[in-house]
Amino acid sequence: MTLLYEGKAKRIFSTEVEDVLRVEYKDEVTAGNGAKKDYIEGKGRLNNQITSHIFNYLKENGVKSHFIEQISETEQLVESVKIIPLEVVVRNIAAGSITKRLGFDKGHVFDEPLVEFFYKNDDLNDPLITDDHIKLLHLASETEIQELKASALAVNQQLLNLMTDMELRLVDFKIEFGLTKDGQILLADEISPDTCRIWDAHSDTNFDKDVYREDTGSIIEVYQTFLNKLEAHK
Ligand code: TMP
Repeated sequence: MTLLYEGKAKRIFSTEVEDVLRVEYKDEVTAGNGAKKDYIEGKGRLNNQITSHIFNYLKENGVKSHFIEQISETEQLVESVKIIPLEVVVRNIAAGSITKRLGFDKGHVFDEPLVEFFYKNDDLNDPLITDDHIKLLHLASETEIQELKASALAVNQQLLNLMTDMELRLVDFKIEFGLTKDGQILLADEISPDTCRIWDAHSDTNFDKDVYREDTGSIIEVYQTFLNKLEAHK
């Protein structure tokens, strides 16, 4: 089948079925827009299984996504969508870029969840953009922007329920959306420890890519522990 796209962590192939794509998760990890890059055997398998588990959980709780089914350890089938070039970040607790940008202490709990948009553009280093910038760049209309925010907050609520049950704290996460053939906005891409910050509720240790960004542990051990917790959750 034809390779349609290769990103930092995944390859996307066409299938014999119209509008169905095959996603293969790669054993590669990057941070800082590719500034730090490594091959880590087993990482693709973990992110595929974690993303599949989370998209199934969201579906069971009324949140639709492009995910169809997991078909192997490293592959899943998804509905074809045209990705909107926005990274939609939801933050419950301050960490990462917002501590540097606005001076919040790491760990500060926000009064309410915050939604931010970043423009997906490697050449520009994925800058933070406002609603007006989004309209200026014709990335989404006002109505679509409001729908993206509402959907992101709905995903946050479901993930908060799940993480709280698992005695974890959902600090922040990044999601992406796409447009279906008939113009519907659908949650897409992945939800994994690569795209979330998750802390242990008791010790605040990380179950996410910060262990790689900050060189504080083994991504495989941490992601495997997180997957085990997810699979143990009923
Ligand atoms: P940030 O604190 O670096 O802005 O990241 C916020 C969240 O978004 C964090 O959970 C990591 C995730 N993220 C991605 O998944 N991809 C990215 O390119 C960036 C910058 C952040």
